[in-house]
Amino acid sequence: MNIDYSESIPNNVNLSGDRKLQRALEQWQPGYQEWWKQLGPTDSLDMDVYLRTAISVEAGGWANYDHVRMLDYRWGIFLAPQEEDRKIAFGSHKGEAAWQEVPGEYRAELRRLIVTQGDTEPASVEQQRHLGLTCPSLYDLRNLFQVNVEEGRHLWAMVYLLQAHFGRDGREEADAMLERHSGDPDKPRILQAFNEETPDWLSFFMFTYFTDRDGKYQLASLAESAFDPLSRSCRFMLTEEAHHMFVGETGVGRVIQRACEIMCDHKTDDVRKFGAIDLETIQKFVNFHFSVSVDLFGQEISTNAANYYTMGLKGRFQETRIDDDHKLNNAAYNVAEVKADEIIYSERSALTAINERLRDDYINDCQRGVDKWNKIIANAGINFCITLPNRAFHRAIGAFSSVRARPDGKIITQADWDQGQGNWLPTPDDRAYVSTLMKPVTEPGQVASWIAPPAKGINGQPIDFEYVRFND
Ligand SMILES: [Fe+2]
Ligand SMILES: [Fe+2]
Repeated sequence: MNIDYSESIPNNVNLSGDRKLQRALEQWQPGYQEWWKQLGPTDSLDMDVYLRTAISVEAGGWANYDHVRMLDYRWGIFLAPQEEDRKIAFGSHKGEAAWQEVPGEYRAELRRLIVTQGDTEPASVEQQRHLGLTCPSLYDLRNLFQVNVEEGRHLWAMVYLLQAHFGRDGREEADAMLERHSGDPDKPRILQAFNEETPDWLSFFMFTYFTDRDGKYQLASLAESAFDPLSRSCRFMLTEEAHHMFVGETGVGRVIQRACEIMCDHKTDDVRKFGAIDLETIQKFVNFHFSVSVDLFGQEISTNAANYYTMGLKGRFQETRIDDDHKLNNAAYNVAEVKADEIIYSERSALTAINERLRDDYINDCQRGVDKWNKIIANAGINFCITLPNRAFHRAIGAFSSVRARPDGKIITQADWDQGQGNWLPTPDDRAYVSTLMKPVTEPGQVASWIAPPAKGINGQPIDFEYVRFND
C-alpha cells in the first residue's frame, strides 16, 4: 500500500475511512506545525534537504530519497504491516490473540507507556534545535535534520495511538505533548535525560549513540506488546531509529579518527592546539551520556515493570527469541546493588528485574560501538582505550543514586568525588573548548577541523553532494 502525499496527513491506517479520528488529528496538526516552527531546527524552513521519506512500509518503499523543502515536510502515520493471527508472546495472556483495541482494565497503564515514549520524541528535537547553526558539514546537517523530522514523526505515531484509542484523555495527552518543553522549569519533559542540553555536536553524536539507543530498547520492548497497534507503530519506528544510532556511532568515530590523525601527524597528545578534540575529553563525554542514558531504564527493582510484563503491555528485548516460559513467575535474575561499599550481585525475581535486564541488554549493545571506536585508535598505533563507565557511576536513579562511584565502579567518598569528578565528567572548560570549535562549515565536501570526513555519502551520493540547499 503506497502512501498518498497529497493527503494532509499521509498515512497507511486508512484515516479517510474514520472521519472522526481524521478531524481530531487535523485539529492537532496546526499546533504541531506551530511547535515545529517555534522549537524545531532554527532557521531551517527555507532549506531544501536531501531527506529519506517513507512512501510505503514495504521493504524498499520506506526509504525514498529526494530534496524536500523543510517548510513542506509532511509527517505521516505509518504502521508496520499487520501480522496475521498474531499471538501474545508473554505474560498472563500468553497465547491469546493480540488486542486490536485497548482492554479497559489496562487503559491507564498503556496510556502512561505511550505518553512516556511519545514525550521523548519532540524533546530531542527541542534539545537539538540550535545545532544546525554550527554544522561541521552539509552531510552532517542533513543527518541532523533527518533525525529531527523522524523524531517529529515518532511523536505523530504516539499521538495517533492516543487519539485513535484513548478518547478524550488521549486528546488531552496529545495536546500536553506540545505544552511540555525540554528544560522548561515549569513544564519540563517527563524524563530527565530529555531536559539536558545538547549544546554542541559532540554532545549530539553522543546523544544519538547512547540516548537514541535507549529509545531502541524501549521501542523494541513495546514492539512485543499485546496491544497490536502499539507493536506495529514501534516496529516501524525501529527501522528509522537505526539511522539515528548510525549517525551517533559514525559521528563519534570520526571525531576520534581526527584526534588520532593529529596525534600521529604532529607527534603530540595536545590535539587541541590543532583544533581537534582530545581522547580524554571524548572519554568524559562518553561517561556523561552513558550514565544519564542508563538512568532512563528506571529502578533496578520495579513492580511497575513487573506489572507491565504480566499484563502483556511491555515485553523484554527480543522476547520471542528468549528460551523460557515467558511468564517468569518463578524465575530469577542477577541484579547489581551496593552493600557495605561494594557492588554485589544477588538473585532477584526476574519479573521485578525486567528493567535491569533491559539495561543489561542495552549496555552490551553500547559496548559494540565502543569496540569499533577502539579499533580506530588501535589502527592508528595509539595506546588509549575508550571504556564505558561502570553502571554505578554518576547515577541519579536506582540503587546507585545514593552513592558516589568512580568510572571503574569503586565506591568513593563525597570528598573524593568532588576532587575527581573533573577527570571523569566534562568540565566547564572542556565544554567551553568544544564550543569554540562549533563553527558552521557549509561548502559542499568541506568538513570542520575537529572531525574526519564521512567514509561515504548518503544513498550512494558523493561526499561533496549538496545535501542541503540554503536558498538565501
Ligand atoms: Fe524516536
Ligand atoms: Fe531517535
